[in-house]
Amino acid sequence: MRILVLLLVTTAAVAQNQASPPAAGSGFVGSNVCKTCHADVWMNFYKNPHYKSIASGKEPEEKTGCEGCHGPAQKHVEARGGKTTIPRAFSLMQPKQALDTCLGCHARDLARANIQRSEHTQNGVACTSCHSVHHSPTPKYLLAKKQNELCYSCHATVRAQFSMPSRHRVNEGFMQCSDCHNPHGSFDATWKMGQKPRMMEQALNAESPCLKCHMDKRGPFVYEHPPVRVEGCETCHNPHGSMNAKLLRRPVVFTVCLECHNGASDFGTRNNGVDLQSSKHNMLDPKFQKCTTCHVAIHGSNADAYFLR
Ligand code: HEC
Ligand code: HEC
Ligand code: HEC
Ligand code: HEC
Ligand code: HEC
Ligand code: HEC
Ligand code: HEC
Ligand code: HEC
Ligand code: HEC
Ligand code: HEC
Repeated sequence: MRILVLLLVTTAAVAQNQASPPAAGSGFVGSNVCKTCHADVWMNFYKNPHYKSIASGKEPEEKTGCEGCHGPAQKHVEARGGKTTIPRAFSLMQPKQALDTCLGCHARDLARANIQRSEHTQNGVACTSCHSVHHSPTPKYLLAKKQNELCYSCHATVRAQFSMPSRHRVNEGFMQCSDCHNPHGSFDATWKMGQKPRMMEQALNAESPCLKCHMDKRGPFVYEHPPVRVEGCETCHNPHGSMNAKLLRRPVVFTVCLECHNGASDFGTRNNGVDLQSSKHNMLDPKFQKCTTCHVAIHGSNADAYFLR
């Protein structure tokens, strides 16, 4: 008796789906059929961006609604459920299979992120590690958790960095990891001389993402300070947070500078060694220790070759 009722409901559901009847023998039954048994999933689905394929009625059946991801469900319905009867049950999938399923439709969106070669993909972190199609607390982007909590769930050490005295205010909600990183991956950067890009989100012209917000540091300057453009901002700054003012890597400014301006003339023909005992730079005089009181335009200048203004 119970089965009969269920059958009737199912048939009714199929009838409702007549707007775009699935081709006979294709194995597709249409999304309405799922409602009977997966009411919880169905009831939330209208809010899901993937509902659009049902609403429009214009997509081919293999790209419509539930079966767009889970595959043709005729056998599953006939068997009255079961994980093994549905072609694509994510709980039984390897990360790679989940990735391929999602990329079946999203390959173009994510192509610019070099998704196949991203650190995440290569370490088995696939779409469903970060996105929750049916249980997302944030309908936008269908994230499994609020973004920073999601990232911290695997990158716990980064949380501490964003709690340091000098920091970008990610924990306070003013910024997100994705302002600087593309979690889907990235191509090699043209700055930093091709060093490992750490999945950096790239601003216009494949620039450092820092320049999206700190545009005054972009230049081009008549007098460039080479490390700003070549080695990148991280040469002197910790991007997440630091115990030192201005996110600097070292507690006092001159120790940052002396990493390069240390007397060795290894910058081509010009000698950048600071003569520590000259009248110009007498390091015994404390006033010389804060290099940026004089070299104020440390990121580059249009007026002075020594960045004095
Ligand atoms: C965009 C792809 C996609 C679409 C469309 C989709 N699902 Fe899912 N489904 C998933 C993924 C991925 C999971 C694994 C759990 C998760 O990530 O939320 C899942 C899990 C499930 C589960 C397991 C239980 C659960 O709640 O996690 C059921 C049942 C299910 N889907 C039914 C449906 C039904 C019914 C529809 C249509 C209303 C549907 N799915 C549409 C991707 C999809
Ligand atoms: C007659 C009831 C019934 C109908 C109709 C039905 N399902 Fe299911 N479905 C089940 C049962 C029962 C399970 C097994 C749940 C379990 O073992 O945890 C299941 C499991 C699933 C799973 C497996 C989730 C996982 O990864 O573990 C997916 C996906 C799913 N159904 C999708 C669908 C879709 C899509 C439709 C509509 C095309 C549909 N179901 C129609 C009863 C049904
Ligand atoms: C059948 C094609 C199809 C498949 C398979 C598919 N998607 Fe989608 N997805 C879409 C479409 C279409 C949209 C809506 C785009 C729009 O809003 O215009 C979408 C939207 C999204 C969005 C939301 C984008 C936003 O701007 O909010 C996310 C996140 C997403 N999909 C993730 C996934 C994941 C994860 C999977 C695999 C579990 C997946 N998709 C599988 C077609 C698909
Ligand atoms: C490491 C976590 C992570 C993984 C893995 C991941 N995503 Fe995302 N995805 C995100 C985050 C975070 C956002 C939101 C970005 C933002 O706020 O700008 C997002 C946004 C999206 C969007 C909407 C915006 C856009 O960039 O087009 C789509 C679609 C999407 N993801 C699909 C996928 C698919 C498909 C996969 C697997 C091939 C995947 N994601 C893997 C974290 C991830
Ligand atoms: C202001 C830009 C910015 C923000 C915001 C940001 N990052 Fe980063 N992150 C970077 C840069 C730049 C590097 C590379 C540092 C280097 O190579 O020295 C990096 C490196 C990393 C690394 C690899 C190296 C390491 O320290 O382990 C991880 C993991 C990481 N970030 C995670 C996150 C997470 C998680 C968030 C959000 C909670 C986040 N980042 C927010 C700029 C940022
Ligand atoms: C499911 C766990 C998981 C989640 C969630 C996750 N990551 Fe990762 N992430 C990894 C793994 C594993 C690696 C590989 C390298 C490693 O072991 O640190 C990695 C590497 C990275 C790297 C460093 C790449 C490099 O070149 O060293 C960055 C940056 C990063 N993740 C950012 C993020 C951001 C931003 C988010 C949130 C949107 C996020 N991750 C969410 C697991 C995760
Ligand atoms: C999304 C915008 C945004 C991006 C991207 C960004 N920043 Fe910032 N940055 C800010 C804001 C806003 C502040 C002001 C500090 C605050 O939030 O209180 C700031 C402050 C700073 C400071 C000064 C801190 C202080 O104590 O005065 C430094 C240094 C800095 N950023 C470097 C960087 C570097 C390096 C990058 C790239 C790795 C970067 N920023 C990327 C928005 C951004
Ligand atoms: C050669 C080392 C060095 C490099 C490379 C560098 N900075 Fe700085 N930056 C400094 C120093 C030193 C200060 C502190 C100046 C002070 O104390 O007055 C500073 C201060 C800042 C500040 C806060 C004060 C201000 O001028 O707005 C921001 C923001 C900043 N840097 C962003 C960046 C960005 C973005 C990049 C990459 C495009 C970058 N820095 C590259 C050394 C550097
Ligand atoms: C990563 C290495 C590096 C760091 C760190 C660094 N510089 Fe430089 N700096 C250079 C290079 C390379 C040049 C260009 C030399 C040339 O043009 O021959 C330069 C040029 C200069 C010049 C212009 C003088 C000239 O001969 O062109 C001044 C002034 C200067 N740096 C000051 C500083 C100060 C102050 C700091 C600390 C806040 C600092 N630098 C940190 C690498 C560095
Ligand atoms: C009191 C102001 C002042 C302070 C503080 C200062 N400088 Fe200078 N710096 C100058 C002047 C002035 C010049 C020379 C300009 C000229 O020759 O016309 C100069 C030149 C330089 C040059 C170019 C090479 C050279 O020796 O001519 C470098 C590199 C440099 N300074 C680095 C530093 C570093 C690193 C610090 C911190 C340890 C520092 N300066 C602190 C004023 C200062």
